[in-house]
Amino acid sequence: MDKIILTGDRPTGRLHVGHYVGSLRRRVELQNSGEYSKIFIMVADAQALTDNFENPDKVRQNIVEVALDYLSCGLDPAKSTLFIQSQIPELTELSFYYMNLVTVSRLQRNPTVKNEIQMRNFEASIPVGFFTYPISQASDITAFKATTVPVGEDQLPMIEQAREIVHKFNSVYAPVLVEPQALIPRNAACLRLPGVDGKAKMSKSLGNCIYLADSPEDVKKQVMSMYTDPLHLLVSDPGHLEGNTVFTYLDAFCRDEHFERYLPEYTCLQELKDHYTRGGLGDMKVKKLLNNVIQEELEPIRQRRREYEKDIPEIYNILKRGSEAAREVAAQTLSEVKSAMRINYFEDMDLIEAQVKKYETEL
Ligand code: TRP
Repeated sequence: MDKIILTGDRPTGRLHVGHYVGSLRRRVELQNSGEYSKIFIMVADAQALTDNFENPDKVRQNIVEVALDYLSCGLDPAKSTLFIQSQIPELTELSFYYMNLVTVSRLQRNPTVKNEIQMRNFEASIPVGFFTYPISQASDITAFKATTVPVGEDQLPMIEQAREIVHKFNSVYAPVLVEPQALIPRNAACLRLPGVDGKAKMSKSLGNCIYLADSPEDVKKQVMSMYTDPLHLLVSDPGHLEGNTVFTYLDAFCRDEHFERYLPEYTCLQELKDHYTRGGLGDMKVKKLLNNVIQEELEPIRQRRREYEKDIPEIYNILKRGSEAAREVAAQTLSEVKSAMRINYFEDMDLIEAQVKKYETEL
């Protein structure tokens, strides 16, 4: 069976290093591995509207930002189809049919939705669109017959929901849909990269993010302000790694080769950690290493972004061409779905003939 990727992001802001180590970096690797016959990367504007419906301009402005972040990370429109969710009406149509296959109590049990409802103070009145977004996400995935969905860990319940819908659809109607598999980062630091202040959630309002598009000075400022070990007061004190944001970021970004370049007294991260926990290694030295490592990773991304920023109309062209190509694929799946559901009246000659016969015999 063909291996197909679909994934995407809500355009509610620029993408940050959490998105990068959680999923973006992997997508580019998968794209370049040549193992996937098709790769669809979606700007999920319709989903972004489920909790930003009163703020359409925010979503509108951020579409090009997310697309620029994608391209500057190395997603290549010649290899991956980049498209905008709302431009594929077939996705909405699929969602309407999938709604029959999911119960309200099942949606209420979805841990990601539960959590988001709390965060947004939606407890008293949840918009139906928001409540049902896992169903819409199942449409995104199944419309492209995706086998593989590279996402952050928080998206696992969404993939599970999609698998359940596929299973139900295929057993009630006909085996049209493909069960997707989530692909999450191997490394714990990449699964849940904290904000620079050590808080679990990276968010614009907390000011604790490092954005892919940040200037070298801004990145450095964030790294130097990073939360470390509050008990590590003197350089000679033993330091702790647990909850130490600088080390979590090093786990996500650092490779052995970085030591040769930036800190040749050590050969690998483990040696640095051992020294830190023994005592005698200052935070500043570790932060400097991290700054070098992150700058090295982000510099080519920044440079590519600057190139793409010179021709914004071309970014929209890429998204338009991608949306047209994506729409053809989704339309094919929808047509299979409709025939499996027996609602393809005008393409089904047998149906018309059977009705003709019925009335002939009745006469
Ligand atoms: N829920 C994802 C996010 O919050 C975005 C998304 C929408 C998505 N549809 C998807 C991700 C389908 C993977 C597959 O970023």
